[in-house]
Amino acid sequence: MQGNFTYHNPTKLYFGEEAMSHLAGELKGYGPVVMLSYGGGSIKKNGIYDAVVAVLKETGKTIVEDPGVMPNPTYEKVMEGCHLVRDNKVDLILAVGGGSTIDYAKAVSASAYCEEDAWEKYWVKQGWPSCQTVAVGSVLTMVGTGSEMNGGSVITNRKAGFKLGKVFGPALYPKFTILNPRFTMTVPQYQMVAGFFDIMSHLMEQYFAGKADCTTDYLIEGLMRSLIHSSRIAAKNPQDYEARANIMWTATWALNTLLKCGKGGDWEVHQIGHAIGLVTDATHGMTLASVSLPYYRHVMQDGLHQFVRFATNVWGVRPEGKSDEQVANEGLSCLESWMKEIGVVMHSSELGVSEKNLQAVTDAVKILPVGYRTLTRDEVVEILRESM
Ligand code: NZQ
Ligand code: ZN
Repeated sequence: MQGNFTYHNPTKLYFGEEAMSHLAGELKGYGPVVMLSYGGGSIKKNGIYDAVVAVLKETGKTIVEDPGVMPNPTYEKVMEGCHLVRDNKVDLILAVGGGSTIDYAKAVSASAYCEEDAWEKYWVKQGWPSCQTVAVGSVLTMVGTGSEMNGGSVITNRKAGFKLGKVFGPALYPKFTILNPRFTMTVPQYQMVAGFFDIMSHLMEQYFAGKADCTTDYLIEGLMRSLIHSSRIAAKNPQDYEARANIMWTATWALNTLLKCGKGGDWEVHQIGHAIGLVTDATHGMTLASVSLPYYRHVMQDGLHQFVRFATNVWGVRPEGKSDEQVANEGLSCLESWMKEIGVVMHSSELGVSEKNLQAVTDAVKILPVGYRTLTRDEVVEILRESM
């Protein structure tokens, strides 16, 4: 293990088919006004909205309706939420949805009473809240981002020309999260497999960094193997509870700060994915899927030892009689086959990336000086062209 770190994750999780029975108890710990934030209406169709509202009424809460959080939530929407919080003196933001709704809730929490320009302060300058914040709780309905147990809040600001992530500290993690795998059964196949790839990407972003022997690598390999196994089952039969439940739990552990302990992290695939998301508004997990293979093939030589380890420990590639490069390439081919098997987007052109907007995408990519290789802007163009 490298470096010094503090591990503290304050989110309380309730997992399983009966998880909602804990919501009433949790709500008792907060004041009377609850802002119910949700997306474009899926929760009204599948009954989750009614179930949550029933508990809010039972516990005597005043409900402030906050619908319409879009995938890739915008800063404009965050500002609307801030008005609602201030006007109604909201005591708790209850986010019911996927990563977009939970990310949005954290953004509103940190920004509602911020006296500065919140975009500049948090997402551009990566500063910390110095104002009052509002407690966030969540009921997860779509698996992938890990937002249910972390401080991440990814916001799109088209006026500024960026989709940026801010990782807030534990004070802004959801205080509690309800994880009922049944709630995810109505997620459309495209979104579901996008979420599966998002999980894999979170694991790879943290795995492909550092050189030391590290317990965290063994944890990541175990989670990858579980994900690969269960995703194969769920892609064929989305109603398989066991597979969906395993994936839900894996997603939470893939990005709740545990796996960054003792390791650095790369996160360049996410930066390129965010730039594609900004320009095309494509589904997050699919943006990552479309650029991962070209990216990893590009940096493979720089982190060859880890790509060899990935091939052998995750995919079971036999190294006998092969060069390290052959083994590493075989690992990436296994990744490619799995991606095709579960049905993710393999080309960024399918998401709308073309020669016409290539410059706009490239300009929006944040280049991070971590991982095995710090890209140049020309290399970003090269990777994007290969991804089309
Ligand atoms: O809006 P509704 O109607 O709810 O429909 C949503 C949305 O269209 C639908 N959906 C969710 N649960 C459903 C359902 N449809 C039917 N049944 C259900 N049970 O799924 C669609 C996508 O939802 P969204 O919340 O956008 O998906 P996801 O969870 O993938 O979140 C994506 C956002 O999270 C950010 C991404 O960048 C993107 O903005 N991320 C957040 C991270 C974090 N907080 O740490 C890390 C990630 O890397 C990621 O960047
Ligand atoms: Zn992600």
